[in-house]
Amino acid sequence: MGRITSCSKLIRQLTHTSRGFASSSAAAQSLGRPGEVVTNVTAPEGPSGVLHVPPRLLMGPGPANSHPRVLAAQTLPLLGHMHPPFFKIMDEIQQGLRYVFQTNSKHVLMVSGTGHAGMEACIANLLEPGETIVVGNNGIWGSRVCDLAERYQAKVVNLQKEPGQTYSKDDLSKALEEHKPAVLFLTQGESSTGTHQNLAGVGELCRKHGTLLLVDTVCSLGGVPLFSDAWEVDAIYSGSQKCLAAPPGGAPLFFGERAFEKLQSRKSKVASYYFDLNLVGDYWGWYDKRFYHHTGMTSTWYGMREALALVANEGLDNMWARHQAVADHLWAGLRELNLEPFVEKPEDRLITVNTIKIPEGVDPVALVTNAMEKYNLEISGGLGGTVGKVWRVGLMGYNAKMENVEMVLAAFRDGLKKQGRL
Ligand SMILES: Cc1ncc(COP(=O)(O)O)c(C=O)c1O
Repeated sequence: MGRITSCSKLIRQLTHTSRGFASSSAAAQSLGRPGEVVTNVTAPEGPSGVLHVPPRLLMGPGPANSHPRVLAAQTLPLLGHMHPPFFKIMDEIQQGLRYVFQTNSKHVLMVSGTGHAGMEACIANLLEPGETIVVGNNGIWGSRVCDLAERYQAKVVNLQKEPGQTYSKDDLSKALEEHKPAVLFLTQGESSTGTHQNLAGVGELCRKHGTLLLVDTVCSLGGVPLFSDAWEVDAIYSGSQKCLAAPPGGAPLFFGERAFEKLQSRKSKVASYYFDLNLVGDYWGWYDKRFYHHTGMTSTWYGMREALALVANEGLDNMWARHQAVADHLWAGLRELNLEPFVEKPEDRLITVNTIKIPEGVDPVALVTNAMEKYNLEISGGLGGTVGKVWRVGLMGYNAKMENVEMVLAAFRDGLKKQGRL
């Protein structure tokens, strides 16, 4: 059998090589009319037949499993991206976004791309070259924003903290006083460290200093309370693939009044064409008429429309309570296994991505591998400053259910038992 396989491999290689030679010269001389040339790169063996993927329960920091209704919506027939029925779907998405962001601002939309696309859109539009941004950098997302803001030629003040810590109003007040930045950046749910940044009162502080408050809510939106208007937040980006139970590919974005004014009064052109919110906003109906900027992500927006309908049907209060209840259940079970939270202060602990201290002498990778091999279950290790220190368990969106918590606890119990720890 082995010999037959290697023989056919050899024949394939030979045919490929000789065909490649013969046809590449034919192709070079051809005008490319159908039937005139033969392909000079053979059809691959990989993407042929019907795609199958193994089942996975995604209980890491994201993506989480999508809601089946969202996935079903993505299989609907395509509409043209400038067709009125598609504009209606985009309008419905914006209504859903206003609810999930708790805002009355007109200026919400979905950025085409993942959370990073939302991050880049905010930085590119809110900062002009030479302006200062103070970055709350207590994990990997602050580091990314420092990098991005530098690329857009902003002056970056890196307000570094150890992983597991958050910012007090006093910390922020001092930084605003000292640097008078155009923008202050904070991450509400720091998924690399498992912290939850308290945002209440920070918007008010920013207003006193003429600073815009920009917040990352990629892994927290829909899972923990957020009141964009009441907390006077100016700009927010998020992600589709976590508490909103949709696949990756869309970044919800919110601009409040002051952020929009900043966009309107910029002296310099936004350095990114793709993320210029003057242009993208046009397509989403921020101004009088809708103009084509890029092809709308038809199927992805169908899914987002459905994800936001699910949020509206359940109600945000119920969603927040559901996320809290499963997190409480997880921690009660983990404590029985003698596992401890990484984040010291209870009020700083994020419930959507939970960080669990790795006990001395335990092999964290063996536990994660066992969970995957035996339970088809994803539990993750640390990221950035938490590598080797924590496991991360996500309880987000469609996955924030008691039976999934039971599965995670069973995997921890089994993994620890295998290492003689129980
Ligand atoms: C808090 C936070 N911000 C930003 C991102 C980046 O999002 P994406 O990977 O969708 O680009 C993530 C992704 O895990 C995240 O958890």
